[in-house]
Amino acid sequence: MSAHAFDAAEAERIVADEMAQARAFYGEDAGGAAPLLPILHAMQEAFGHIPAHAQPLIASRLNISQAEVRGVVSFYHDFRAAPAGRHVLKLCRAEACQARGCERVAAHLERAHALAPGATTADGSLTLESVYCLGDCALGPAALLDDRLIGRIDEARVDELVLEARR
Ligand code: FES
Repeated sequence: MSAHAFDAAEAERIVADEMAQARAFYGEDAGGAAPLLPILHAMQEAFGHIPAHAQPLIASRLNISQAEVRGVVSFYHDFRAAPAGRHVLKLCRAEACQARGCERVAAHLERAHALAPGATTADGSLTLESVYCLGDCALGPAALLDDRLIGRIDEARVDELVLEARR
C-alpha cells in the first residue's frame, strides 16, 4: 500500500472515477450509496485510512448524509479512521480462537501494552486490529503480523511480537 497524506484533488478524482465506474456498471441505479464501498476502499488504498476531510466530500458527491458515510466506515473493520502504525497486528477474535484463548491475549495486550483494538502504540510502531477468522482455526489463537501468519499465540509470544515491531 502506498499510503500518503490527504490530498483533496486526489480524493475528488477517486470519487469521480468510482462514480463513473458505478454508472457504467449499474446504469440508472448507480445513484446514492451504490459507489460508497468502492470509494472507501480506493481512499484507504490511497491514504492508508479514510481521512476525516474526505467524508463530507464523499457525502456531498453521492448526495447522502455524512452520518451514513461515518456509519459505514465504523461498521466495517477493514476501514481505518486514522492512519495505522508501521506494523499491524491482526488478532483473530472469532469463535474457534476464542475457545483457544484469544481473549486472554487481547486482555494482555491492553493491560501490558495499552493496545486496545484499533489503537496504535504511542511510538507509532504497531496498530492492533481484531479480525474474525484467518483460516488458521486449528492452530488458534491465530494472528497476522503484517503479512505473516502466526499460530498458537499466547501472552509470551505476543510480547515478542510487540518488541519485534518496535525495533
Ligand atoms: S477462528 Fe481464528 S483463525 Fe479461524
